[in-house]
Amino acid sequence: MTGGQALGILALGAYAPQRVMRNEEFEAYLDTSDEWIVTRTGIRERRIAAEDEYTSDLAFKAVEDLLKRHPGALEGVDGVIVATNTPDALFPDTAALVQARFGIQGFAYDLLAGCPGWLYALAQAHAMVAAGLARKVLVVGAEALSKILDWNDRATAVLFGDAGGAAVVGRVREGFGFRSFVLGADGTGAKELYHACVAPRLPDGTSMRNRLHMNGREVFKFAVRVMNTATLEAIEKAGLTPEDIKVFVPHQANLRIIDAARERLGLPWERVVVNVDRYGNTSTASIPLALKEAVDAGRIQEGDHVLLVSFGAGLTWAAAVLTWGGA
Ligand code: UT7
Repeated sequence: MTGGQALGILALGAYAPQRVMRNEEFEAYLDTSDEWIVTRTGIRERRIAAEDEYTSDLAFKAVEDLLKRHPGALEGVDGVIVATNTPDALFPDTAALVQARFGIQGFAYDLLAGCPGWLYALAQAHAMVAAGLARKVLVVGAEALSKILDWNDRATAVLFGDAGGAAVVGRVREGFGFRSFVLGADGTGAKELYHACVAPRLPDGTSMRNRLHMNGREVFKFAVRVMNTATLEAIEKAGLTPEDIKVFVPHQANLRIIDAARERLGLPWERVVVNVDRYGNTSTASIPLALKEAVDAGRIQEGDHVLLVSFGAGLTWAAAVLTWGGA
């Protein structure tokens, strides 16, 4: 898909904060139960950033992990994109902080597109390298969602967690790398999932409220629909069939949503990466974190076709197929 240039993921890293918050902690002060949360979402625990730990800190730690695993991976990186819905500040962009921290020469900007932001950013990095605008791009997804949750809203507080993930996108050997991207948005669903830190007027007509708001039921229906359509489209664009997909790494929001997508694709659970039970929904960090765990566990080998898919606020969706390895 790059006119003879194969582009893929050269290095990967991720980080989740130390503090583990189990479902039982919610039982202590909310009208909820471990049983309800596990049955409806698959989540058992999530990681919560420390009081003084923000999105940039999680991004730094993810990049440090990447460097530990792939020393020298930032050589030749000409820019940074940070996909996040919870930047440290509206501006400067969190990517600028990452750029400075690691002494990267080149561009730096944030990308806001709901949970699929990291996949959107991979697609942009891919396009930039293909167009000759960069040799390599560092693509980070990081979220401190715990900072914007309404901890007294049982319908949202139990769902999310904090984490960061990072990848370097660049040239790989022929036959490896990205085979397709699908990006989509439907802004008519803007009111179903939002956070207003500076908006005087929200899509639902109310005024600024500094917390995340979600119509879970609507997002659920939307998610099941787009997970199906986007994955099938990405597989077809890649010139493959669902049976060719060795590893499926879906956005980790809800086990029931993952199961619906898995079933539609006809994939056995052994090919599906799931860690929502341990991290909850970490938005843009969800896919790189799950991908890294799958690589570490030896579940993804050179030459495997890997399918990624995500959905979220916007409403947005994205999917990608890549052939792993070739670095
Ligand atoms: O990255 C994108 C982020 N968003 C998502 O992925 C969210 C997608 N949506 C979902 O995952 C699910 O819709 C939820 C997990 C949010 C909710 O599950 P559901 O099966 O769709 O439940 P529901 O919203 O239909 O609510 C059923 C009941 C309601 O009570 P009533 O009205 O039937 O009396 C809720 O008030 O469950 C209640 N409820 C809870 N009960 C105990 C909602 N949250 C909780 C809770 N504990 N934490």
